[in-house]
Amino acid sequence: MARTSIFLLGALLLLCFWTSIGEANTEYLEYKDPSAPLGARIRDLIKRMTLQEKIGQIIQLDRANMTADIIKNYYIGSLLSAAGSVPAPKASPQKWVDMVNDFQKGALSTRLRIPLIYGIDAVHGHNNVYRATIFPHNVGLGVTRDPDLIKRIGAATAFEVRATGISYAFAPCIAVCRDPRWGRCYESYSEDPKIVQMMTELVPGLQGDIPATGRKGVPYVGGKEKVAACAKHYVGDGGTINGINENNTIVSQYDLFHIHMPAYLDSIYKGVATIMASYSSLNGVKMHANRAMLTGYLKNKLKFRGFIISDWQGIDRITPTLHENYTYSIQESILAGIDMVMVPYNYTEFINDITTLIEKNVIPMSRIDDAVKRILRVKFSMGLFEAPLTDYSLADKVGSKEHRELAREAVRKSLVLLKNGKAGAQPLLPLPKKAPKILVAGTHADNLGYQCGGWTIEWQGLDGNNLTEGTTILKAILNTVDPSTKVVYKKEPTSSFVKSGGFSHAIVVVGEPPYAETKGDNTNLTLPLPGPDTIQQVCGEVKCVVIVISGRPLVIEPYLAKMDALVAAWLPGSEGQGVADVLFGDYGFTGKLARTWFKRVDQLPMNVGDPNYDPMFPFGFGLTTTLSSS
Ligand SMILES: *[C@@H]1O[C@H](CO)[C@@H](O)[C@H](O)[C@H]1NC(C)=O
Ligand SMILES: *[C@@H]1O[C@H](CO)[C@@H](O)[C@H](O)[C@H]1NC(C)=O
Ligand SMILES: *[C@@H]1O[C@H](CO)[C@@H](O)[C@H](O)[C@H]1NC(C)=O
Ligand SMILES: *[C@@H]1O[C@H](CO)[C@@H](O)[C@H](O)[C@H]1NC(C)=O
Ligand SMILES: *[C@@H]1O[C@H](CO)[C@@H](O)[C@H](O)[C@H]1NC(C)=O
Ligand SMILES: *[C@@H]1O[C@H](CO)[C@@H](O)[C@H](O)[C@H]1NC(C)=O
Repeated sequence: MARTSIFLLGALLLLCFWTSIGEANTEYLEYKDPSAPLGARIRDLIKRMTLQEKIGQIIQLDRANMTADIIKNYYIGSLLSAAGSVPAPKASPQKWVDMVNDFQKGALSTRLRIPLIYGIDAVHGHNNVYRATIFPHNVGLGVTRDPDLIKRIGAATAFEVRATGISYAFAPCIAVCRDPRWGRCYESYSEDPKIVQMMTELVPGLQGDIPATGRKGVPYVGGKEKVAACAKHYVGDGGTINGINENNTIVSQYDLFHIHMPAYLDSIYKGVATIMASYSSLNGVKMHANRAMLTGYLKNKLKFRGFIISDWQGIDRITPTLHENYTYSIQESILAGIDMVMVPYNYTEFINDITTLIEKNVIPMSRIDDAVKRILRVKFSMGLFEAPLTDYSLADKVGSKEHRELAREAVRKSLVLLKNGKAGAQPLLPLPKKAPKILVAGTHADNLGYQCGGWTIEWQGLDGNNLTEGTTILKAILNTVDPSTKVVYKKEPTSSFVKSGGFSHAIVVVGEPPYAETKGDNTNLTLPLPGPDTIQQVCGEVKCVVIVISGRPLVIEPYLAKMDALVAAWLPGSEGQGVADVLFGDYGFTGKLARTWFKRVDQLPMNVGDPNYDPMFPFGFGLTTTLSSS
């Protein structure tokens, strides 16, 4: 007994001795000292870095084909999950954490132990992750004109992203979509720059509020429940000719600074950590190679101190054909001011080419140092050096009840009532919860994939209800009506079915299928089949409310007279209950159009304030309803 104690005491003393020797041998590294000033930490670290280590910091790679050893051997500074690039189908938050931690351990086993920053397109909630809360796309959020709501959505999204070990969200998209033919129009809050500016509250939602002692304009990410944000796509992405994705934005200085630029100033003021360059060109100059706008304006004039990231293969698109001259692409983009390159696969090619350019002094070392300093500034300011690894403690935040309730609130506030009752007739909405028999029809009534839209689990979105968890509009109606109300659901009913059905009224849910980016470009903007037919068959026979699920206004005039009521629901996401909440009068309609609802595509582009403004429903339009008495 005594002998064991003496032995243990001896072992303990020996351990203390060794530990103190170890400490005595450890050089003080200022960059590792969280109490040292940020600038001093950055300077201390960068002076220790080799060229290879610096190059590694400016590379971002997709997680596919990635290993901890590659990260270690090439000093890779950043990874991303592109849309649908997941550790496994339907992976749990824990599985995500394990994956990110494994990569992070690769980075932490390098000489200087510089942590990775891991990014993802969390653009309407943590949308790549199974069972995450899917919020309405921005086109619906703009309708709410509720910056506090947007901030709360940012905070909820940050929680869900951090819960999976990820520290960086490629959001908000602050595009000002000026032409709904653009396939990304639903990623834009509004055609009105003032609404887009208001919605930059997503930045402090994601990153936290700059503390009183902080400096406006300097990247700030507050703690382990927050993520770095990314204002995108700089600049003019929403103003391309005819809404063609990634095309040329021809714009006067006045319009550039009054339409497309203001929300960047707000984002920078609110401490946004990163800005993503746009694939598009500005007056013929590719934004990824636009030195005047990236370095001259953003960095020198506005004093933006975070980093500028490229888009996916964004530098490869500087040349007329993709990846035509990679050396040229690297040279032009880095000299223009891009700090981090979303490569996203061939890191050896990038490393070889940029090394040659630096050795030949085509790219000066000062430019590389500037890029690395900016990236390190974000990593330090986020506390990544102190807490690079994630535990499972936030796992239950993913798709939590609280977040789903928030999304449901957002859905309620994003609906716009465009028509309520035929001329001279009583309003149809709110619908009574108690009715003998109602019909629910349309391709979009019971399809979670359709109501979530693009950027949901997969890049292009999905069809059906088994992709993730949520409430379809049909399910929401069933949850809401009185138990005595018989609900009949038929996707594509014929008029004779409707006529003989004895329905008191019908709810028809139609719209666009999911899409993302260029695949969403559309020059006709007609209501896709079989939507028009379903409206004809149903609304000809019974009183009907039509709910349109779409990423933008569509040509609706030909069917409008047939409908008793019309609701624009945009892309509401996983919480369809919010639609039923308002339809049945538990809440009133409050949404006002944040986009002009045009009559015909030949009017486009047509935005609020334009001469010859002749819309179907003007910007700001939206009817209200009284609450149901039931
Ligand atoms: C990495 O994976 C992606 C997608 O899985 C694939 O398209 C790409 O060619 C791969 N790249 C390399 C370098 O293996
Ligand atoms: C814009 O689109 C047109 C037509 O598709 C194409 O010819 C042109 O190269 C595009 N311009 C840019 C800058 O992408
Ligand atoms: C690629 O770009 C580099 C750098 O601008 C240039 O020197 C070279 O001639 C180009 N190569 C080709 C094949 O065009
Ligand atoms: C990466 O680029 C190099 C050219 O620099 C090429 O030889 C190699 O095949 C590429 N690797 C992949 C996997 O595409
Ligand atoms: C999901 O549903 C689709 C059709 O709606 C079906 O093709 C697919 O096999 C289903 N997937 C799973 C994993 O159940
Ligand atoms: C409208 O354009 C879309 C996208 O290009 C296309 O899929 C659809 O068939 C077109 N519809 C009509 C009626 O032309």
